[in-house]
Amino acid sequence: MSNSIGIVILAAGKGTRMKIDTPKALAPALGRPLLDYVVSASLDFAKDCALIAEIGVVIGHRKELLESWWEGHTSKSAMKLAWQKHQHGTADALKACFNDLPQFWNHHYTLVACADTPLLSKAELVSLFNVLKNDSTLVGVAATFETQNPTGYGRIVTQGTGFSIVEEKDATEEQRKIKEVNSGFYILKTSHVKTILSTITNQNKSGEFYLTDLFKPAYAVKPVRFPSETPFLGINTMEQLSNISMILRDQKLKQLFADGVQILNPQSCYIENNVKVGIGTVIYPGVTILGKTEIGSNVIIESGCFIKDSTIHDRAEILANSYLEEAIVHNEATIGPMARLRPGADIGPLAKVGNFVEVKKSKLGKGAKVSHLSYVGDAEIGENTNIGCGFITCNYDGANKHKTKIGKNTFIGSDCQMIAPVEIGDDAFVAAGSTISKSIPDGGFSIARAQQVIKEGAAKRFIKTKKT
Ligand code: UD1
Ligand code: MG
Repeated sequence: MSNSIGIVILAAGKGTRMKIDTPKALAPALGRPLLDYVVSASLDFAKDCALIAEIGVVIGHRKELLESWWEGHTSKSAMKLAWQKHQHGTADALKACFNDLPQFWNHHYTLVACADTPLLSKAELVSLFNVLKNDSTLVGVAATFETQNPTGYGRIVTQGTGFSIVEEKDATEEQRKIKEVNSGFYILKTSHVKTILSTITNQNKSGEFYLTDLFKPAYAVKPVRFPSETPFLGINTMEQLSNISMILRDQKLKQLFADGVQILNPQSCYIENNVKVGIGTVIYPGVTILGKTEIGSNVIIESGCFIKDSTIHDRAEILANSYLEEAIVHNEATIGPMARLRPGADIGPLAKVGNFVEVKKSKLGKGAKVSHLSYVGDAEIGENTNIGCGFITCNYDGANKHKTKIGKNTFIGSDCQMIAPVEIGDDAFVAAGSTISKSIPDGGFSIARAQQVIKEGAAKRFIKTKKT
C-alpha cells in the first residue's frame, strides 16, 4: 500500500557517554523517557500525512527495561519490539528490525529515527516526507542541517549531483570542515532498503555497519537541509540531557502561559511535561512540580514547594516549602507553610493542614483543621473537627499499622496522642495533654492526664543557685 509506513526507532545502543547503566532511550527529559518524544512525534506525523503506520522499536542493551516500558505504554498497540542482540551499528539495528518483524518489508515507506532526539516534532517529519512523496524519482531523503560544531556527526559530502554521508572517524581533514551534517532521520522507499541493506559492509574505521551507507551518489537520494539544528539536537551526554531538558522546560512554561497560568519567576521553576495546571493559578519562584500532578484553577503555590503525582483542586493554597507526594487537596484547602503530605493524604474542601504537620494515608473532612506540629497517619478526621497543636496518631506498634477515626465537629486539645486503633465520635471533646487509648462515644468528653500537684514554697528545693 502506497500510504503505509514502517517507523523504525533505533534504541538498542547503550549510550556509553551517558555513563549510566539504563539505556539512553529511557533517560528522562522533563520527566518523560526520551523514546516517548520520538514515538509521539512520529505517530502525529503519520496521522497528519494520512499514513498507516506501524512502529518497530529496536532494543538491545538492558532490553528488559525497554520491554517493561513498552508493556506500560499507552501506544503499546501501535508498537512492536525487535531485538538487536549485539550492537554492530545502525544498519545492523535496522536489519534486526526486518528480521524480527518481516511484515515491515510490506510497508511502502520506512522512516528511520533515533531515540535520543526529543525536540523533534511532527513538523520536520512532515516536511521531510513531502520531499520524497512529491518527487517520484527519489528513493530516499535524509534530514540534514548546518551546525557551527559538526564534531561527532556524519558529514554531508556532495559529489556531482549526488551525495554521501561520511562518518567523523572516516572523514578526511577537508571533509571534517563540512558544516552540513546528518541528523540521523531518514525516510526511504522500502524497496530501496531491500536492495541495499544486505550489501552494507563494516569496512570502515569503526568496524560497524553504517545505515548512512543507504545514501550514495549512485542512488536517487537527496539531503533535505533544515534551517535550524535545534529540533535535531541529540543527547549523548548528561550535560546535553540537562541542556535539552531546559529547552523542553521553556516550551512547557510557554504552553502554561498560553493556558493562563501565572509563573512569577519561570527560570527558577521546574515543571515536568505531564503536569496540568488550570487558569489563574499562580506559581511563585522556586517551585518543582513533577509526574502526573494535576492542579486546578486559581490555586496558589508558594515558593519552595515540591509537588509530585498529586491532585490539587481549585482555589487551594499550598504555602511555602511544602512537600506533597501522591496527595489530594480539595477546593479551597490550605496546606503549609512547611507541611508534608505523604501518599494517601486526602485533604477535604476548606480544610487546613498547617506548619510542621505530616499527613500520611489519612482523610481530612471538609473544614477539618490540623494547624500545627502534628503527625496524622492512617487516620480519618471528620468535618469541622479541630485538632490542637502537637497531635500524634500513634499508628505503629512496631509490627502493624492501626487506624484512628475521629468524627465530625469534635475538638481535640493540644498535645494529645491517639493510641491506635481508637475511635472518637462526633461532637466529642478531648482535653489537652491526653493520651487516648480507649474509644470515646459521640458527644463524649475525655481527659487522660495526671492530676496536677502544687506544693507552696517548695520551688527553692529545685532551683540551683549559680556559682559566681
Ligand atoms: C549517527 C549517524 C551520524 C549522524 C548521527 C546523528 C550512523 C552510522 N551515523 O551517529 O551520521 O550524524 O547519528 O545523531 O548511523 N543504535 C542501535 N544499534 C546500534 C548502534 C546504534 O540501535 O548497533 C541506535 C542508538 O541507540 C541511537 C541511534 O542508533 O538511538 C544512533 O546511534 P549513535 O551511536 O548515537 O550514532 P551516532 O554516532 O550519533
Ligand atoms: Mg547519537
